[in-house]
Amino acid sequence: MENGRVISDLHCHILPGIDDGAKDAAVSEAILDAEARDGVTQILFTPHFYADHIEQDRFLRRRGRAFEKISQLCEERGIATALGAEVRIKEQLLGMDLSPLRMGDTEYLLLEWPFYGGYPLYGEEIVRNLLKAGIRPVFAHIERYEHLFLDEDRLRYFMDKGCIFQVNTATVLDPRTQKRLFELANKGFVHILCTDAHNMDSRPPKMGEALALLEKKTSREIAARILQNGDDLFHGRTVHVHDMPKKKKLFGLF
Ligand SMILES: [Fe+2]
Repeated sequence: MENGRVISDLHCHILPGIDDGAKDAAVSEAILDAEARDGVTQILFTPHFYADHIEQDRFLRRRGRAFEKISQLCEERGIATALGAEVRIKEQLLGMDLSPLRMGDTEYLLLEWPFYGGYPLYGEEIVRNLLKAGIRPVFAHIERYEHLFLDEDRLRYFMDKGCIFQVNTATVLDPRTQKRLFELANKGFVHILCTDAHNMDSRPPKMGEALALLEKKTSREIAARILQNGDDLFHGRTVHVHDMPKKKKLFGLF
């Protein structure tokens, strides 16, 4: 809690030894310490799920065992926790029941688009299937895919269907990407800020720094609403993405 605000991290790879994130509990502990210093009090763990590599049941068992190794560390730091997954869009997802991979007990699921090979049409089918099953996709780090980051019509299309857009702290802090990201945030296309933390070296969490910069470059209202969305999502409340506060440029419209 910082200035009465609740800070949540709903996309991270802190669970030890399950994916390319924290390699052991010592790394997990260091990341959790950094999160606690930044005032993060709610963390939803989202290890990678690749449907062509591992069976869902086996993944869930592994995730449970990894969480057992650090649940006490979270308790000691006063961090509330929940389990989810970062589900990569693959053809194998078609026809699968993905509800066990939801973010905690909520109606949300963290969905990752492929980085290469363009825009897969079966991605849209997977999104439609999820929505039909009452699950709202949260698109992981929209800034990492050109077909979303640069195409506002496509963002609007998915937003109108009920999808939610997440961005990473690293992108907020990266001078190469931040300008576009702030522009999208000022237009209401950025709904959740998460760390996507993998370790303390190349991919540390940095929630505090990113939040402060985001607030400075957008507005207090936008930053506060992004935090509120994170808290709402963590607790399974409805996230309203169509009435995000917006900030116009000083001269003229966007
Ligand atoms: Fe991730």
